[in-house]
Amino acid sequence: MSSTRREFLSAAGAAPALAQTARQRTANDQIQVACIGFGIMGSGDVATAVTVPGVKLTAVADVYDGRLARARELYGSIFTTRDYRQVLARPDVDAVIVATPDHWHSRIAADAMDAGKDVYCQKPMVQKVEEGHSVVAAEKRTGRILQVGSQRVSSVLYAKARDLVRQGAIGKVHLVESSWDRNSPLGAWQYSIPTDASPDTVDWDRFLGSAPNRPFEPVRLFRWRNYQDYGTGVCGDLFVHQFSGIHFVMDSLGPSRVMATGGLHYWKDGRDVPDIMMGMYDYPETPKHPAFHLNLRVNFEAGGGESHGFRFIGSDGALNLSVGGALVLTRKPRDPEPGYTVSTFAKAEQERYLAEYRKKYPARNTNADSLQPVDEQRFLMPRGYTEQYAHHANFFDAVRNRRPVDEDATFGLRAAGPALLSNISLFERKIVQWDPERMTVKS
Ligand SMILES: NC(=O)c1ccc[n+]([C@@H]2O[C@H](COP(=O)([O-])OP(=O)(O)OC[C@H]3O[C@@H](n4cnc5c(N)ncnc54)[C@H](O)[C@@H]3O)[C@@H](O)[C@H]2O)c1
Repeated sequence: MSSTRREFLSAAGAAPALAQTARQRTANDQIQVACIGFGIMGSGDVATAVTVPGVKLTAVADVYDGRLARARELYGSIFTTRDYRQVLARPDVDAVIVATPDHWHSRIAADAMDAGKDVYCQKPMVQKVEEGHSVVAAEKRTGRILQVGSQRVSSVLYAKARDLVRQGAIGKVHLVESSWDRNSPLGAWQYSIPTDASPDTVDWDRFLGSAPNRPFEPVRLFRWRNYQDYGTGVCGDLFVHQFSGIHFVMDSLGPSRVMATGGLHYWKDGRDVPDIMMGMYDYPETPKHPAFHLNLRVNFEAGGGESHGFRFIGSDGALNLSVGGALVLTRKPRDPEPGYTVSTFAKAEQERYLAEYRKKYPARNTNADSLQPVDEQRFLMPRGYTEQYAHHANFFDAVRNRRPVDEDATFGLRAAGPALLSNISLFERKIVQWDPERMTVKS
């Protein structure tokens, strides 16, 4: 065990006894991590986590036996179980990755922190806004580290974008847009359902948890995103990434007004969540930036092709962020000519007006002179860089050295809040007022 780690542990006197036991039994500096929910993202998170130096997988929990078998195929003699509480009780687990369906996030994250574990919790941090403060409180009460899994927040690309906006590279930003267009069955969450899924291979009740009771129906587990009982629709799944990125780049706590609309138009496969959604959000002024407006869109029926990106539109230019890099376009200096609209005036007045106008703005020689110069700067991701790795590395560094993470529970709630309120705005057809500082819905 390293001295830094030991120093922290002795400082963490308030942590539960189990946490102390777990740390004391750790023979060296290695961080022993477990995964709860070893599906697409959980297995991806583990694959990334174990590439961070000093991180080792020791246990996996999942309610489908096939995924436990897959974990053993990949990682050998690890502990596997259907019951996540058995993972939390283990002294050889320092930290857990929570990658279950959304309706389990807050419960497992809080149980894990109460058991003395640090937590990497997938986004959205909570399924329902009202669960948020209990996670923030558990983080505070237990002194554990909690990182929410919106990896953009640790990205060099978003850090560059934030620097550029802070430095005024595109002037004052009053409008931000972000869209996420998809046009494929997998993009629309029609994931594979294993042929061996049965009440014998799936712990159905443990999957349902606090969700309404119902008979075994594998599509609801393997495509849980499509059902409000377990998921959060396109806004909890994708808007939340957009909010995380925007809040980070704009140094913002969140919007004060949430308005959303949308519907289910194409993927009518039994799901009860929309496949097209748009949101509009008003952001109050902050110490670093003026008030701005945000426009978000997710479209799973995007015949025009798949794309995803952000556009920060400022008074002097625009910053486009996409997966691979950033493009900054600036127009400087601005065209000094304001232009004129005189054709509706009487002829004599047109002539008088233009004569005065040309005294002030002499005519340019050629049409080419009237073209506006645009400065263009491109920033590309470094070769081999992934924000996924950066986000995990940030988490494990925080675990080892007891430092704040990039995306704690408060940041997670501030991203999840407006995303989840977008569902309320859509389903209840109303504008929702949000207090981004206190993270409460205003009546
Ligand atoms: N950060 C990202 O870019 C990103 C990308 C994809 C998914 N995610 C998030 O990761 C989470 C998982 O998504 P996914 O696509 O991997 O889903 P998935 O269905 O592939 O995996 C979820 C797993 O959890 C298991 N599970 C269900 N209930 C459980 C319980 N009570 N205890 C233990 N295991 C349980 C399921 O059997 C399944 O294996 C979601 O919250 C999602 O929003 C994040």
